[in-house]
Amino acid sequence: MTGTAVVVPAEYAATHHQIFGDGPWLTDLPALAEQRLEAWDLRLDGDPRHGMVALVLPVLRSDGTPAVLKLQPVTTDTAGEPLGLRTWDGRGAVRMLEHDPDSGSMLLERLGTALSGVDDDDAAVGVIAGLLARLHAVAAPAGVRALGDIASAMVRDTPQACTQLEDGDAALLRRLADVVTDLLAEPGDRLLHWDLHYDNVLAGDREPWLAIDPQPLIGDPGFDLLPALDNRWEQLVATGDLPAALRRRLAILTDVLGLDRRRAVGWSLGRVLQNCLWDVEDGETRLNPVQTTIAEILLPLGP
Ligand SMILES: Nc1ncnc2c1ncn2[C@@H]1O[C@H](COP(=O)(O)OP(=O)(O)O)[C@@H](O)[C@H]1O
Ligand SMILES: [Mg+2]
Repeated sequence: MTGTAVVVPAEYAATHHQIFGDGPWLTDLPALAEQRLEAWDLRLDGDPRHGMVALVLPVLRSDGTPAVLKLQPVTTDTAGEPLGLRTWDGRGAVRMLEHDPDSGSMLLERLGTALSGVDDDDAAVGVIAGLLARLHAVAAPAGVRALGDIASAMVRDTPQACTQLEDGDAALLRRLADVVTDLLAEPGDRLLHWDLHYDNVLAGDREPWLAIDPQPLIGDPGFDLLPALDNRWEQLVATGDLPAALRRRLAILTDVLGLDRRRAVGWSLGRVLQNCLWDVEDGETRLNPVQTTIAEILLPLGP
C-alpha cells in the first residue's frame, strides 16, 4: 500500500494535452502510477516533478533508498531511453534501477538540482562537455536509431519544408541541407545523448553531475553539441558579443571532446536544420531567430 494518492499536476496535464492532444494517457496515469508503486514496493516521498513529457514522482524503496518513478508515454522519442541508460550503466548518466517494458516506466536513482542553476557559463558548458565525453566513450548497442538515417531524411524533407517559408529562410534552410549532404558519407558511430541541455544534467552523490533524459542515437559527437550551444541564450546575449560568446562555448566543447572544429560545426548546423524542420512540421512559417542567428555565426566556421 502506498498511503497517499497520486495527483497529476495541472501544469503537466496542460502541457501534455498541448503536445499529444486527447488520449487515455492522462486519465490512466494515476492508475499506472499506483500499479508501479505496488509492483516495485515504493512509497511516495514528496511533490511530483515533470518536464514537457514525463511525470517524475519522488519515491522511497522498501529499504528507504530515495529514487524517482519516471512515467512517460512510449513514443519514437522516448522508446530508446531505457536501452541507453542500461548501456551507460551509471557512467556519466543516471542509473536505472527498474524498467517495465509494457508501460515504459522506469525507476531511477534520485538526483538533485539542475546544472541550469550554475551561473558561470564556462563552468556549466565544461560540465556538459565532460559528460558528453564520457557518454560518447561507451560503445553503442544494437537497436539504437542512426544519425545516418535521420540526416538523410532531413535532406529529403528540406525542399518540401522550403515551400512553407519565405525566400530568405528557405535559402538558409537549403544551405544547411547542403552542409549535411556533404557529411552524409560519414555519419559517425558514437552513442549520443541528443538532448543534453542544462536542465537534463542533475547533481549526484556518486558523481558531481549526471545526465538524465537521453534519446540515444548512433552518430558523430558533433551532433550532440547544440543543446549546450543554444540553451541559456540570454546569457550569451548579455555578454554584449554574441558571436564571441557562442564561439567560446564551441571551443570549450570541442577542446574537451577532442573534436575537429569544422566537422563539429558541420554537424551542429545539421542539428540546427533538425530544429528548424521540426518547427516547420509544427506549422511555423518563419524560422526561429535563435536558430538562424546560430546558423549565420557557424556557417563561416563550417566544412
Ligand atoms: N533521477 C532524477 N532525480 C531527481 N529528479 C529527476 C530525475 N529525473 C528527472 N527528474 C526531474 O523531473 C524533470 C523531468 O524529467 P526528464 O527526464 O527531464 O523528462 P522530460 O522528458 O519531461 O524533460 C527533470 O527536469 C527533473 O526536475
Ligand atoms: Mg528533460
